Amino acid sequence: MRFTNLGTSETKISQIGLGTWQFGTKGWGYGKDFGKQDAINIVHRALELGVNLIDTAEVYGGGKSEIILSQALEGYNREDFVLASKFLPTAIRPSAVNRALAKSLKRLKTDYLDVYLIHWPNPLLPLGATLRHMEKMVDEGLIRHIGISNFGLKRFQKAQSKMQKHPLDVDQLNYSMAKSKVKDLFLPYAEENNVTIMAYSPLGQGFLTGKYNAKNAPKGTRRMNRLYTKSNFKRAAPMLEELNTVAQQHDVSMAQVALSWLIKDKSVVAIPGAKNIAQLEANVQAAELNLTNSEIDQLSRQASNFKPKMFF
Ligand SMILES: NC(=O)c1ccc[n+]([C@@H]2O[C@H](COP(=O)([O-])OP(=O)(O)OC[C@H]3O[C@@H](n4cnc5c(N)ncnc54)[C@H](OP(=O)(O)O)[C@@H]3O)[C@@H](O)[C@H]2O)c1
Repeated sequence: MRFTNLGTSETKISQIGLGTWQFGTKGWGYGKDFGKQDAINIVHRALELGVNLIDTAEVYGGGKSEIILSQALEGYNREDFVLASKFLPTAIRPSAVNRALAKSLKRLKTDYLDVYLIHWPNPLLPLGATLRHMEKMVDEGLIRHIGISNFGLKRFQKAQSKMQKHPLDVDQLNYSMAKSKVKDLFLPYAEENNVTIMAYSPLGQGFLTGKYNAKNAPKGTRRMNRLYTKSNFKRAAPMLEELNTVAQQHDVSMAQVALSWLIKDKSVVAIPGAKNIAQLEANVQAAELNLTNSEIDQLSRQASNFKPKMFF
């Protein structure tokens, strides 16, 4: 496993983490028993393989993801994993964040979160006042790091300017070869200023794995993913072909190349979700893959050239 620093801190996080939206969320289609055993086995194997970063959110499965994680993490040393969770700022009262954190901690059966993030920007939310509450949480030892999610660079910098005592260490962003704008719009700033980009949907929710096409697209939650159209598969063909070529050269999968491409930069960690242990193991293995500079350049070019049509 490869590790990097969390934001400006000395906290080490694995560049391949584990996303857990799938836990307790019916729409992923993994069956009602997935959360009972498979999800728990995935967490155990992840920790065994050196993954220490685990991402969840209060909304995943309406709190079930956090509950399943608490079951999976029972008996482990709390210092051995870095737990990130998020709250959805639907209430515009800044103090609502306190109640949300208390509930997440209760579901997760832990005294603190390593990273606490605002899940989405809400223009009606008094951002400065909310961040003030989060800074107080750091002072009280309830959280260790503050982050936000789905904030573009301008919004991130605005939030950063409101910090008074603690750094804003993380932006969790939709970043993959299928959604690569972050590479030009955020990455240079993150690299220079030690901001951690937590790349979510790093496999484009399966789009980059080569196993789907327009006729055989995933159902359920992923119906909302506008990548999965006939025209986008057509646009993506050269990029998917390049991914496949590089994968064959290294005798690995397209998913592994897509993850390796993301974590080539020290400010980026990827948090792929997994359906089973085999996927998790493959994703972890991506940290051992070293792409050449020319492969990275070629993949970057293909990613930039892919301009999906995101509206029907
Ligand atoms: N902050 C936010 O707004 C936000 C939004 C979305 C997600 N997230 C976080 O980011 C995490 C990851 O994103 P995501 O789950 O949306 O997408 P993802 O990680 O790109 O895709 C996960 C899915 O890809 C397939 N997969 C995983 N590993 C594979 C492998 N090695 N080979 C082939 N297929 C593989 C599995 O689905 P199938 O096998 O069923 O195809 C798996 O459920 C989430 O779990 C969540 O923690 C955050």
